[in-house]
Amino acid sequence: MRTDTGQVFKLEDYRPTDYLIPETGLTFRLSPEATRVTAVLTVERRDGVAASVPLVLDGDGLTLGRVAIDGQTLAPTDFFATPDQLTITTPPAAARFQLLIETELAPAHNEALMGLYRSSNVYCTQCEAEGFRRITYFLDRPDILSIYTVRIEAPHHEAPLLLSNGNPVGSGELADGWHYAVWHDPFPKPSYLFALVAGALGKVADSFVTLSGREVELGIFVEPGKERLAGYAMDALKRSMKWDEEAFGREYDLGVFNIVAVSDFNMGAMENKGLNIFNDKYVLADHETATDADFANIEAIIAHEYFHNWTGNRITCRDWFQLCLKEGLTVFRDHEFSADQRSRAVKRIAEVRTLKAHQFPEDQGPLAHPVRPRRYREINNFYTATVYEKGSEVVRMIRTILGAETFRAGMDLYFERHDGEAATIEDFIKVFEDVSGRDLSQFSLWYHQAGTPNLTISSTHNAAAQEFTLEIEQSVPPTPSESRKRLMHIPLAFSLVGADGKAIEYSGVEGASVEDGVIHIRKRRHMVRFSGVAERPAMSLNRGFSAPVTLSVEQRADDQFFLAGHDNDTFSRWQAFNTLLTEVLISAFRQVLDGRQPGFASRLIELAGKIAGDETLEPAYRALALALPSEADIARDIGKNIDPDAIFSAREALTVAIAEANREIFSDLYDRLTDKDEFRPDAASAGRRALRNTLLDYLSLLQGGAALAARHFQSATNMTDRAAALSVLALRHNGSPETVKALADFEAKYATDPLVMDKWFQIQASVPGPQTIHAVRALTGHPAFSMANPNRVRSLVGTFSSANQTGFHRADGEGYRFFVETVLQVEKRNPQLAARLATALRSWRSLEPARQGKAREALLSIANTENLSADLRDIVERTLA
Ligand code: BES
Ligand code: ZN
Repeated sequence: MRTDTGQVFKLEDYRPTDYLIPETGLTFRLSPEATRVTAVLTVERRDGVAASVPLVLDGDGLTLGRVAIDGQTLAPTDFFATPDQLTITTPPAAARFQLLIETELAPAHNEALMGLYRSSNVYCTQCEAEGFRRITYFLDRPDILSIYTVRIEAPHHEAPLLLSNGNPVGSGELADGWHYAVWHDPFPKPSYLFALVAGALGKVADSFVTLSGREVELGIFVEPGKERLAGYAMDALKRSMKWDEEAFGREYDLGVFNIVAVSDFNMGAMENKGLNIFNDKYVLADHETATDADFANIEAIIAHEYFHNWTGNRITCRDWFQLCLKEGLTVFRDHEFSADQRSRAVKRIAEVRTLKAHQFPEDQGPLAHPVRPRRYREINNFYTATVYEKGSEVVRMIRTILGAETFRAGMDLYFERHDGEAATIEDFIKVFEDVSGRDLSQFSLWYHQAGTPNLTISSTHNAAAQEFTLEIEQSVPPTPSESRKRLMHIPLAFSLVGADGKAIEYSGVEGASVEDGVIHIRKRRHMVRFSGVAERPAMSLNRGFSAPVTLSVEQRADDQFFLAGHDNDTFSRWQAFNTLLTEVLISAFRQVLDGRQPGFASRLIELAGKIAGDETLEPAYRALALALPSEADIARDIGKNIDPDAIFSAREALTVAIAEANREIFSDLYDRLTDKDEFRPDAASAGRRALRNTLLDYLSLLQGGAALAARHFQSATNMTDRAAALSVLALRHNGSPETVKALADFEAKYATDPLVMDKWFQIQASVPGPQTIHAVRALTGHPAFSMANPNRVRSLVGTFSSANQTGFHRADGEGYRFFVETVLQVEKRNPQLAARLATALRSWRSLEPARQGKAREALLSIANTENLSADLRDIVERTLA
């Protein structure tokens, strides 16, 4: 474990290296306890660098064997080695030489899951961001591009399959039952994209013919016997390859594309060149074991990693500060892919919900940072919702500002200009300035300035003058280490909606530049005056969520109701309805506290019934609309002095009220939606299931609800329905005989399927209320649970601490004590995972004072622990700062 050194890396300190490594040869002699790695690096001194300049290579916990230069083993005085660094003190005078380094690794004992490790007897690697240095000493930074040739040797019976990046170029038998394979990747790549897999795996094979007619061999490798669960992933891969050709003109560039699924993985998946490695959760699926959400995730993540081949691999990042250059852009690309494969409106609503649930709290709390950070202590902690989700929104805004065609021209120029390079955000912005002739300097603050901007908007209509005026004011709240903010360029899509639900035409506008339905806000205040507006319109603002901002709008409830029922843009309709729900929930929360009456609740409750039954709306949309803002959503909107129990009660009361008022509509519809067809994972069928399961959740709160959910559970023919029913039983009827039986049946049926058991853990960790902590503690001792497996830890501990408001934030602090114990326990093996878990307390300052005090104590007790990893110390100290 790398303990914290307190070192801070700064963007402004970027310097190119003195040496390059144009070629890398690696030989692995694999063994669980003692793998021998021989690296042969072609090292080149840059022009103008003196021969006396030492060569300093990165390592992380390495055991060094031999070092040789141009065939001569070095004497101990010629180099200086620690586990974390190798310095060649006096490199040869020649500008180019060959450096051989032998290291020895113990993959079987690598529980951090970075570098070379074992997962269910399969050797695999994870090198992003800085894992390659756990394999050999190297210039382990993304601007060092090298051509790799990799030879893997292993006992044939233990590892019949030997994979690395690029194309296979040789293989054969060796003595004593060993064999070898050689892989060559012709594309220069940074070390974080290196990958190796060796073991006994089953293969699903297919092929794809590219735009220019080249045939690519596709392989998905899974645990033997699970091949039939990889069909959906393969289909998603082929659709991704086709889509990238059509939408971005990007063709695949090697003869092989392989994906390997492993069961111990820190993240979702990794885009290693030609050899993606996946958490098996995002590969394996059939209707018996995977939910519709799982299918959608698999499709999106397969696409995401595949799309990195151009946005990340062919054009990579100059340094880790530029992470959003590949991640934000690739998330944007996978969002667009899913929107095209499924329903665009539904996809956008889901994205915005995710953004608000994960990125907004990050941006509004102690861990706030710009999309392109300027400093970090531990880069692993910057794979955040801000870099990913907000990073994607920034790309979306560029497209909004430029228009789809110019945006595409900019992307084409980006690929043309920077292919084969390690680029920066400045390079990315420049291509769009060049193709559009626009100045994007103010816009680029979106990359550099943290915090969620707020727009305060009010309107007046002057009937006599036929004038409608929007008064808009922007502000960006201060964030850690950035107290004063600059004014941003915010593209606000809008519509002035008339009584027929259609946009009102206006004859002129002044006060801001307005193009194609977008107001370009650039100043602190704008008075935007529309002329020729006879009737008072309803304002539909931030349509399609054109900018990731919060709005404080003075809007009549009547107008919101009108938009929620009639806006011709589905997203905006959802947004209006959701805003109303949030308002009612907040006023109900206040009522719980001070006895005030909620306003227009009954009208809204009625509208919920109308939306449910509106056959002109797609079922998936109706399901999303009926899903009330989560407890965390409500807490975020309230902002401070949060009492999770009061929020829970308010939300529960509204749910019951909606169910009671719409009992008949809901129950008729529930019956009609019962699916008799064979299971299909497509978006339309998934949408019908989502709506029916949402209705079940409401109906379960009425009389006979537990029995209804139990029947739903028993008659389920797929995992979506089964897991939904189990969740309703556990969350709404905890402790009932129906629930106890369903949990036991589920466990008995799926005890040997870890990915399904994750759902079982997750559901139990989500049960609201103060008792859940006991169940969660007990479940850490369940035979299917393991602190060493990230999926298990996330499903139980992660769910409890970041998705169970009333359970985790138990008033006596017991949830926090459990959190401290488990985070520290996980950290011993896997600091990266521990640091992720620890972000669960990032919004501790918005809690009411008593809980706040207890949360702070918990954080302090971690901070006061000695020898913390860099990962965990960084998160905990920033959270407390
Ligand atoms: N490059 C990342 C994987 C990664 C992240 C490796 C952090 C090392 C550290 C990959 O492309 C990625 O972003 N994966 C996401 C899923 C994606 C669909 C957003 C993940 O793993 O969560
Ligand atoms: Zn990615």
